[in-house]
Amino acid sequence: MADVNDVLARIDAQLDKSLERLFAFLSIPSISTDSAYKADCHRAAEWAVNELSAIGFEARVADTKGHPMVVAHRKPANAQRHVLFYGHYDVQPPDPLDLWQTPPFEPRVEDGPRGKRIVARGSSDDKGQLLTFIEAARAWIEVAGELPVAVTVLLEGEEESGSPSLKPFFDANKAELKADLALVCDTNQWNADTPAITTRLRGLVGEQITVTTASRDLHSGMYGGPALNPIRVLSSLIASLHDADGRVTVPGFYDSVSELPEATAAQWRGLGFDEKGFLGEAGLKTEAGERGRSVLEKIWARPTLEVNGIWGGYTGEGFKTVIPANASAKISFRLVGKQDPVALRAAFRDYLRQKLPEGASIEFHEHGSGPAIELSAESPALALAASGLREEWGKEPILMGSGGSIPIVGAFRSELGMDTLMIGFALDDDRIHSPNEKYELSSFHKGTRSWARILGHLAQWA
Ligand code: BES
Repeated sequence: MADVNDVLARIDAQLDKSLERLFAFLSIPSISTDSAYKADCHRAAEWAVNELSAIGFEARVADTKGHPMVVAHRKPANAQRHVLFYGHYDVQPPDPLDLWQTPPFEPRVEDGPRGKRIVARGSSDDKGQLLTFIEAARAWIEVAGELPVAVTVLLEGEEESGSPSLKPFFDANKAELKADLALVCDTNQWNADTPAITTRLRGLVGEQITVTTASRDLHSGMYGGPALNPIRVLSSLIASLHDADGRVTVPGFYDSVSELPEATAAQWRGLGFDEKGFLGEAGLKTEAGERGRSVLEKIWARPTLEVNGIWGGYTGEGFKTVIPANASAKISFRLVGKQDPVALRAAFRDYLRQKLPEGASIEFHEHGSGPAIELSAESPALALAASGLREEWGKEPILMGSGGSIPIVGAFRSELGMDTLMIGFALDDDRIHSPNEKYELSSFHKGTRSWARILGHLAQWA
């Protein structure tokens, strides 16, 4: 096997070229949730297939009912172990566009407090992150002629819209996707100098609801008074979903949520998390949520129900005196522990149907779901990956939780029987899903170097 230092030197020498490739990828507006960008999603998948083919992967665009998957393999004859690397090439919508300093799909490098950073939608979530792995693989192949372990790459184009095509795709391609371990680069570091392995991830349920009260929009002077207003009905339904202590009122919501074991709580306290700094960086002036729990506990170990969008009536320029026929909202729950997405969706629907006033009807539309994940800290692969991170960062990686969700990770366990190591280099202030998303150039560079080391260590996995 080649010396990892030669691989690292190659990564350093090629950084500008790697960045050029990232810029080409970031220029493709692969917004999965908006059908106007379907062709761009396809183009992003093709771009990735071309890159992977160029470094000797057997790669293809695999069509699904929604956006395609990218599947690629490179399996050295003498490799002991086989890992599946997952990332997503789709991105969140960039709006509100007017808050971007430069257009979201025209990537650029700017100076920031930590040095240079890459600004574009998807720079951190997840194109920049996923390329750290591919660039590390490239360096191994170019320097050593081969990868230290067999690698399958799976890139999805629907992560940001709930991964609806995942389950059927897994069902049809189980044998091809099965590996010893999954690796995911779609999470954060602990902070800018401290790497992390994410061992818990919240699950997610997405729901869209529409309340209807009339057969058409009505004049608010002619009908205002006797007409039931669906925006008011929807608002009071939403307002009733939390109690005064910040707890969700849906019956059974907390049934399978356990209190944090004291040892874990103590480890988290020991991290010295700066609650005020974390909230303040996002412009938050007070702390909301369940009373009596720390910020880390709220994000890593407690479930939530949040309203992500609400609309109805006239919201355009000027004014229109109308009582709309209907009003809608998008609502998501973050899940922890053994909370069951299917049962909770049903409980939520029952609860709202039962609270609905006479004269209103309600419709539900489902937007995907996935369970929460917890990984054992005892896994041998985790120790090997930790060695790679320690060597690169000169510090022990933190084992942390994440409030975000990556639906596929649950399916890796339930459908393919694989554990997942989530190692990412994003930072809390990367503004993922917000205007002016960025990825530090050092995250991209040291992330690539970290994967090169981790791949080297995984070859030692007995
Ligand atoms: N990279 C994020 C998940 C994440 C966020 C991990 C913050 C660690 C810290 C991922 O791409 C994402 O945003 N997922 C969505 C999934 C959803 C749309 C099904 C999420 O969590 O909202």
